[in-house]
Amino acid sequence: MRDFFPGLAGVVATKSNISSVDGQQGILEYRGIRIEELAAHGTFMETAYLLLFDELPTSSALRQFEEDLLIHRRIKYRITDLIKCLPESGHPMDAIQAAVAALGMFYPATNVRDPEARYWAAIRLLAKLPTMVAAFARLRHGDDQIQPNDNLSYSENFFYMLFEQKPDPAIAKMFDTSLILHAEHTMNASTFSGLVTASTLADPYTVISSAIGTLKGPLHGGANEAVIHMLRAIGSVEQVASFLDQKIEAKEKVMGFGHRVYKVKDPRALILQELAQHMDKDQKPNSLLTIARAVEQEMEQRVGHKGIRPNVDFYSGIIYHQMGIETDMFTPIFAMSRVAGWLAHCFEQYQHNHLFRPDQIYEGPHNRPYESIESRKPSTSAI
Ligand code: SDX
Repeated sequence: MRDFFPGLAGVVATKSNISSVDGQQGILEYRGIRIEELAAHGTFMETAYLLLFDELPTSSALRQFEEDLLIHRRIKYRITDLIKCLPESGHPMDAIQAAVAALGMFYPATNVRDPEARYWAAIRLLAKLPTMVAAFARLRHGDDQIQPNDNLSYSENFFYMLFEQKPDPAIAKMFDTSLILHAEHTMNASTFSGLVTASTLADPYTVISSAIGTLKGPLHGGANEAVIHMLRAIGSVEQVASFLDQKIEAKEKVMGFGHRVYKVKDPRALILQELAQHMDKDQKPNSLLTIARAVEQEMEQRVGHKGIRPNVDFYSGIIYHQMGIETDMFTPIFAMSRVAGWLAHCFEQYQHNHLFRPDQIYEGPHNRPYESIESRKPSTSAI
């Protein structure tokens, strides 16, 4: 009898040099560097370079990388027109998935063996994702798209394209730190989804479009948005205990908690919680952060012994909310960052490719007759 591992839990799908996680100790490293170091001293631009090139950039390499990104921030008017045609009630993750797939039509990168083609595809995806995210955020409300400002850094420019004003430097720095923390995380679902697509030798735009679709789900990147809806539904610290009792009684998942690998508090959640506390100046009695901290305390009593603790998505949305960003934009921001890790894994896969094609244990019937339509009975199974 062949072994079956639901969700491929614990199954090794590839070998990689990009990042590592110790779920028992709560350690995450990008190319061997602890994320606490990168969060304290680095920038998202440096981190993206590190993930792609396996080394932190020299000052001249970083300057060239940032210059290449700067000149590719703008999007073709046809991509803007495509975004304008999308329903304003649609989810921004669907908008950017469509826009990224369309991007690949304007900049064909089918020769995945060509390092130059891979580099410029990575540059365009890293540089244009923020522009497309901000464009949908504004166009859906009938506001004009704000063109990138070449005098601003990557993170400052995102705020400028979103709010038409340069952010406070401290806010831009906290946003940049959050992007560092979201950039990469070994064999998570969206990275694996991209890897499967890359293993067919599809181009990087198609790979990233696959990964964006996977990240959207509430069990993965979509959890950061779901956490805010949950905290709002709880409404006050007094309601936390009864809310959690009901969720756990109904065996429903509490958003922002639990992880396939971490059995201690996600190291990223520790840093994000600090940033959220730093931003929550007035600490109102029932602020989202106050309720969140009460949820964490109550969850620790109920399920901490099972290793179910806050993950990256539990505090991240609170920070973006405090920055005035709309809730359904939180997962697209996750995607803007994770595109660096997805690309690193995509290019690593191209280097030692083997098509992903797992097996299954078939449990259905064999040799069923083809019945005439007159003799068929209504189906009782739901799809
Ligand atoms: C991300 O993989 C990555 O690295 C992802 C990520 C990244 O950077 O790419 O870290 C980002 O996606 C973080 C996860 C965001 N998702 C959520 O916050 C959604 C809520 N979390 C759960 O859906 C869950 O914890 C998962 C999906 C994250 C992990 O689930 P597993 O490993 O498949 O575990 P499971 O669902 O089989 O749960 C095991 C047990 C169950 O109880 P029993 O049936 O054994 O009694 O733990 C319980 C579950 O009911 N459990 C939870 C829970 N998570 C697990 N119970 C209540 N609330 C939860 N959140």
